[in-house]
Amino acid sequence: MSKKLLNIREVKLLPIDAEFYVMGVASRLSRRVDRNNNPFWEMTLSDKTGDLDGKIWTNSSWINRQGGDSFPVDPDNCGLTFEGKSIGIAGKVGQYRDLMQYNFNEVYYLDQEQYPPSGFIKTSPVNAAYLEDQFRDLIAQVKHKEIHDFLLSVFFTKYNLWEKFKIWPAATLLHHAYVGGLLEHSVSVAIGARDIAKHYEAFQVPVNMNIVIAGALLHDIGKLESYSIDTTPRNTVKGNIMEHIVLGSNMFLKFAEGENLDENITNAIAHIIVSHHGLREFGSPVLPATPEAMIVSAADDLDFKLNYWKSQIDAMGTQSEFTDYLSFVDRRLWRGVDIQ
Ligand SMILES: [Fe+2]
Ligand SMILES: [Fe+2]
Repeated sequence: MSKKLLNIREVKLLPIDAEFYVMGVASRLSRRVDRNNNPFWEMTLSDKTGDLDGKIWTNSSWINRQGGDSFPVDPDNCGLTFEGKSIGIAGKVGQYRDLMQYNFNEVYYLDQEQYPPSGFIKTSPVNAAYLEDQFRDLIAQVKHKEIHDFLLSVFFTKYNLWEKFKIWPAATLLHHAYVGGLLEHSVSVAIGARDIAKHYEAFQVPVNMNIVIAGALLHDIGKLESYSIDTTPRNTVKGNIMEHIVLGSNMFLKFAEGENLDENITNAIAHIIVSHHGLREFGSPVLPATPEAMIVSAADDLDFKLNYWKSQIDAMGTQSEFTDYLSFVDRRLWRGVDIQ
């Protein structure tokens, strides 16, 4: 373990054949078998600078370093759970079909008290106090008293989602997958949707601003039930089997009933929640059918894509112009030109 300790962004800048040592949280770990039935593992190691996907081959060593000792362990039979824990990796950069491949040759289960997983977890880059101010300001801009009071009840008084909402991630990977990501994403979507709605009001499309803001702030509340943040963001059982759109509409309808929210208002907001992914193949059972739902869905899609672009370009370092092909957005992303 004498190699220089790098962070994940630095590892990704290394050339082929370079060796590295890096620490982070094993945000995912899956066991597979090769053609000869030998086990190998795929691990995603995460720190504040990014995520690194690596392969752990059959001949790699697994080492327990808790309490200052170092002894080899059998990952299948050692009683240790590596996923979600702080891990050190000694590895080497390889290549497979023109792509970099990171081989994790030594996997160290670190002392979890000395290196707590929370120390590696990413948080929103946007200032938390700024986001809270913006969130409260958006609610204040809802002039319809019943909707305004409903939002206060859901987020701050009767149902008090706020304590969870302000720290929750918006995803387990891909976009806003960090502490505070759900608040950052919801505020950004709501401000974007509000501004788009203002534009269309001026262009004579009738848009209800109260519904737009309320729908945008509530559109992803199901993520409070579909993700947990034990260490890194991960799916809950409910999240895996019902997903945040179903969970969110259930939560919203329960709150609406508890607050006796007007039926028309309830329908308009529920429609935004269930349609916001914009396409059936993206998980929405119905497509946006009102100006308010079309606007929130468009703002949501843009906010996700821009956050994804930023995280991928940041992770790429300064040498490359393009990312690798990213199946999730079906394209390679481009840094663009820097025009002064
Ligand atoms: Fe969503
Ligand atoms: Fe969203």
